[in-house]
Amino acid sequence: MGQLTVKGLSKTYGDGAMAGSVLALNDVSFEVPNNQFCSILGHSGCGKTTLLNIAAGFEKPTAGAVLVDGEPVSAPGWKNTMIFQDYALFPWASVAENIAFGLEMKNLPSHKRLDATQYFIGLVGLKGFENKYPHQLSGGMRQRVAIARALAVRPQLLLMDEPFAALDAQNRTFMQDELVRIWQREPKTVMLVTHSIDEAIKLSDCIAVMTRRPGRVKEFIQVDLQRPRNEDDAGYLKLKRHLRDLIHDEVGDR
Ligand SMILES: Nc1ncnc2c1ncn2[C@@H]1O[C@H](COP(=O)(O)OP(=O)(O)OP(=O)(O)O)[C@@H](O)[C@H]1O
Ligand SMILES: [Mg+2]
Repeated sequence: MGQLTVKGLSKTYGDGAMAGSVLALNDVSFEVPNNQFCSILGHSGCGKTTLLNIAAGFEKPTAGAVLVDGEPVSAPGWKNTMIFQDYALFPWASVAENIAFGLEMKNLPSHKRLDATQYFIGLVGLKGFENKYPHQLSGGMRQRVAIARALAVRPQLLLMDEPFAALDAQNRTFMQDELVRIWQREPKTVMLVTHSIDEAIKLSDCIAVMTRRPGRVKEFIQVDLQRPRNEDDAGYLKLKRHLRDLIHDEVGDR
């Protein structure tokens, strides 16, 4: 399961009473049903990474909570895995070893580890690359390894912070399609941070549009378009215009 609830979440960095403290998130609330794909869309500095870090257990909220199936997230662990923008693979480990890493942490017996590793290598389209090292792979391939590694531990929540920002436009589109394909084969509750309106529409069941800092949810949108999403579809274009208006209306400090 993986019903996600973000409830009255606020985060101040530093002592709130002191000059220089930063209110990053201000009373953020929304819900994502089990196995739905949610994107967080907003300007730089509005608290998107802060929200993910709290959901991953890396940061503590100042008020409110992130709950998974009613349980507040309080510490990092395999149940809520994060995929970072820069992949964060182990450079000294092969593709297969990188993917198996989380399974070792979970104390899976070795034959199950091997089966799961093979399955996820196949799922992300990396058969034949098991023994390559990260530096021998393209950016898109490294991100596939990161996705496989995150999914292999069968988390309840998959968190992705601008996972395709480092890729060129063509590869980014390709990886977005791949992510949808993988997610449809291995359904998971996902929270993905992005600056890109098109990425949010292409991938998501729901989109939380944030205000500028301090981040609040400006509008929480259900995306009822058929998959695969078609950029020329009237519904797609209408939603894109709406999101663009919401984002462009946002002025203020950065
Ligand atoms: N560890 C920290 N200590 C102090 N302030 C921080 C810390 N992390 C983030 N902030 C501040 O909190 C605010 C939100 O930062 P955050 O990284 O969550 O934004 P973001 O929406 O992810 O931005 P971007 O789109 O540029 O990645 C910013 O003003 C940032 O400077
Ligand atoms: Mg960020």
